[in-house]
Amino acid sequence: MDDGAIALKEAARAKAYSMPLEDIRVADPELFRTDTHWPYFERLRKEDPVHYAADDGDIGPYWSITKYNDIMDVDTNHQVFSSERGITIRDAPEDFQMPMFIAMDPPKHDAQRKVVSPIVSPANLAQMEGLIRSRAGKILDELPIGETFDWVDRVSIELTTQMLATLFDFPFEERRKLTFWSDIATSAPGTDFCPTVEYRREKLRECLNTFIGLWNERVNAEPKGDLISMLAHGEATRNMEPMEYLGNVILLIVGGNDTTRNSISGSIMALNQNPDQYQKLRDHPELLPSMVSETIRWQTPLAHMRRTALEDIEFRGKQIRKGDKVIMWYVSGNRDDEVIANPDAYVIDRERPRHHLSFGFGIHRCVGNRLAEMQLRVVWEEILKRYPVIEVMDEPRRVASAFIKGYEYLPVRIPG
Ligand code: HEM
Repeated sequence: MDDGAIALKEAARAKAYSMPLEDIRVADPELFRTDTHWPYFERLRKEDPVHYAADDGDIGPYWSITKYNDIMDVDTNHQVFSSERGITIRDAPEDFQMPMFIAMDPPKHDAQRKVVSPIVSPANLAQMEGLIRSRAGKILDELPIGETFDWVDRVSIELTTQMLATLFDFPFEERRKLTFWSDIATSAPGTDFCPTVEYRREKLRECLNTFIGLWNERVNAEPKGDLISMLAHGEATRNMEPMEYLGNVILLIVGGNDTTRNSISGSIMALNQNPDQYQKLRDHPELLPSMVSETIRWQTPLAHMRRTALEDIEFRGKQIRKGDKVIMWYVSGNRDDEVIANPDAYVIDRERPRHHLSFGFGIHRCVGNRLAEMQLRVVWEEILKRYPVIEVMDEPRRVASAFIKGYEYLPVRIPG
């Protein structure tokens, strides 16, 4: 970290602890872009773990749940805390709704989830491992030596996009379209990448048209093991309206893409910030599975999930009202020192490395968690075979989002 970054963090800490509690707004994307959200969450965990933020501009008021066990309690109580009105802090626009099963309650949620779950059956995962390994090897072998390049684009995006193309049996040469749609779906309009609301909708309609073409091919063929064929033949999904098909496609693209991508980039960041752990990994490659879980905890690629209260409920002494937005801040729960020892440290040989919130809990627990872990493990097995050191050359550029917690750009160098 350079002097500027250290000064920024010190200023954030001073501000987080001096402002009135009721003024804290942890959902500000700028806090995530600058990586200065930590002291705000630390203060909330200590002083006001179930925190109410009164009206916050276009987001509206929301509750922040910041401690590990409280998050578990909300996540596993879908009878009271519903996903039906959206799972991100921002509401989707009324005139462009994309229903998807992550944002549904039972029984529809359960039926649709069941349709796609076989994609990550142990047998399927075992079959995919060899493919992931050969692709990871090829991507790594083509990296430049002795010069700075962007790890996000060359490795994290490329590897996860290739995987997605396989899961959908999407035309391989056009796979970067999947990355583009994933990015456009999670972007807030008003940037160079996504200038207007209309532009975003137009691109998502293009995505839908492409996927309708693939649906039409598969619906008339024998059922196969790819996600589109599963949706086209599944009892709970074969009669979906087009926007619901788009919603579920976007769920699977974003689920399988951004999260794993940012974990791969996060592993490089974490090991560079903790050279003793990097050395431990080189000395003990058998620690890779636990290093993978620790990275996913440390990174927390999805900073939050949102629920909406279906009834008035008293929760840890606070009165939550029917219709209130309730935000489970996984990023904060993963740093709760009452549950995880020394939680700010990155330790690749923790006793219970899978004891974290990054995949959620309850009926919506991540479908792809084993696939994501396997991808990370395999890519690191291949990295360690080839390159003992991958050096971060400068501060990364982080995503300005309170939902996707990750990196747009990460300059690295493999020493000659
Ligand atoms: C490190 C990588 C990943 C992280 C951190 C992650 C995180 C999450 C989280 C937090 C949830 C919601 C849990 C809840 O509400 O309790 C979720 C759900 C989901 N994830 Fe992942 N995910 C990852 C990788 C993947 C992959 C590779 C896939 C693709 C196959 C995937 C597909 C899904 C789906 C379909 C859901 C919705 C499940 C439901 O509503 O029942 N995820 N994920």
